[in-house]
Formats: sequence, structure tokens, C-alpha cells
Amino acid sequence: MAVPIIIDCDPGHDDALAIMLAAGDPAVDLLAITTVAGNQTLEKTTLNARRVCTVAGIAGVPVAAGCDRPLRGPQLVAADVHGESGLDGPEFPEPTVPVAAEHAVDLIHRILAEHPEPVTLVPTAPLTNIALLLTRYPEDAARIREIVLMGGSTERGNRTPAAEFNIYADPEAADIVFRSGVPITMCGLNVTHQALATPGVLARFAALDSELGRICHALMTFFASTYRELWGFESPPVHDPVAVARVLDPKIVRCVDANVVVELHGEYTRGATVVDPHGYLDRPVNAQVAVALDQELFWSRLLDAVTALGARRGAAG
Ligand code: RIB
Ligand code: CA
Repeated sequence: MAVPIIIDCDPGHDDALAIMLAAGDPAVDLLAITTVAGNQTLEKTTLNARRVCTVAGIAGVPVAAGCDRPLRGPQLVAADVHGESGLDGPEFPEPTVPVAAEHAVDLIHRILAEHPEPVTLVPTAPLTNIALLLTRYPEDAARIREIVLMGGSTERGNRTPAAEFNIYADPEAADIVFRSGVPITMCGLNVTHQALATPGVLARFAALDSELGRICHALMTFFASTYRELWGFESPPVHDPVAVARVLDPKIVRCVDANVVVELHGEYTRGATVVDPHGYLDRPVNAQVAVALDQELFWSRLLDAVTALGARRGAAG
């Protein structure tokens, strides 16, 4: 039975692949895509979500825009990583997928109320929308099956020495989510850095010989250029689809139980996820933390999803 999910994202090259994995794999039922400010402004991340749905032929999945700034502090963007558009690299046609009139938080609230079973939320961006949902509609916590998020790290950060971008962009929101009591799985940099789009992976996308395969190839080629320039990576880590992969099949992403708390006040560590699998802080387990990725299973599921979307699009004419 397909797991019902909502992706909350900030496309973003890796968000784009996460959307395609969720839409193309039969193990999940993508109920909605919501957007938030993060990699780029809300206007750009929302346009990019519509662009991805258009080129991937994802129809009938509502796209709703959410929060345009964090709960506290300035809005950050990552133009150095994702470009001025937030999805630099490929050329995109004008989107044919509309943006919903509802605010993202209200759309998630309505779906949670109407769906016959609890829904899994898959945030791959700053957690502002999710925190606002849990604050505005606390009763929704019981209607969420689990939150499987890309964010944080058991090791070091990528926006500061201690903090990963999605958490650092809105630490107060992340703190609300990790304290919510909702079952959480955290896919941090320590595991997403195992999802490297190597030249061999890129060759497999090129070998799909499809328009969507070429778009994925162009996305990861751009991503590789900024990761090489900024951090000297040989190949870029494709973060966000790892969270979706965990929902598709937990065997793809191995996790350990831990307490996770978000540092809000450290002069040099604000936005860090302090991960405590050994109980040093004597705090209750509140998350499953991803530690290992089955890379072959991961990439083959993503390639299969892109193939399926391309075939569906071809059949639709
Ligand atoms: O730190 C990586 C995360 O920040 C990913 O979700 C990427 O898309 C950016 O949002
Ligand atoms: Ca993202």
C-alpha cells in the first residue's frame, strides 16, 4: 500500500530530484508539494516546484506556497549553491502547473483532516511551514504518521562549521519540530554525503536517453560545479531524495535512535543539531537518525522513478 506523503521543499536541485522520486515511485502517494523560502526566495522556490512538475509531467498534485521568511531572523538563500534562479543549469519551459490559492500550511492542515489515514511529511527545506502548522494547528500532530526530514548533521555543518543549511535557516522552527513529539527521522549531512552523483551515476541518467533524464543530468552537472567550487567535492551530494528513499523502503537508509536537540543560543553553534545516541544528556529518544545509505538501491530507485515519469509523460503525449 503506497504511503501518503507531502513534500515541503525549497527547489533547489536536490529538491527537484526528491519530487521526481516521490512522484515516480509506486511506494509513495504524493498528495501535495508545498514550498518555503530557503535555497532561494519563496517566489523562486515556488516557480521552481511548478517547473519541475511541468517537465516531469506531474499533474493533479497541488503546489502551494508557504512562508517567505524564517520565524526569527533574516531570510537566508543559497544562490552560491543553486544559482540566482534556485534551479540553474537546465532551461525550463513556462510552467503549466498552477500554484494553489491556499497557503501551504492551510493545505497541509486540510489534507491531514481529509485523508483517511495519517500522512507522512517529508520536509527537505527550512522547517518554517512545519513549525507553523504544529503551532497553528496542534491537533494535527496526531494526524501526522511521521516527519522524515532532510536536515541537520551528526557531524559538522555546511552553512557554519556546526550547522546544516535547512536547520540554520530557521533554528526556532527546527526546535519546535524536534520538540513536537511527532515521530521524526532525521536524514542529515552525515548520510546524504553518501549520495554522491558520481560520473558513473551521471552516465546512467544520460543513458536513459529521455528529456527528463537529460534535465536530471543538467541539474546534477550544475550542482557538481558549485560543490566543486565551494567545497572541492569531486561529486555533489544529492541530499533531499535520501529522505524520500527512507519512506520508500527503510532498508535503503539505516537509522539509529537518538535524542536530537537544536542549539539556539550558541555564539558559534546556533542551528547545530546535537545528536545524542548514547544518552549522555539523559534526554529521551525523540528521533531516528540516519547513518548509512544503500547507494545502489538509492540510485536505482531514483533512476527507475525518472524512467517511469518519462514513460508516463510520453504516453500522455
Ligand atoms: O544542506 C542541504 C539542504 O539545504 C538541502 O535540502 C538543499 O536543498 C538545501 O535546502
Ligand atoms: Ca532543499
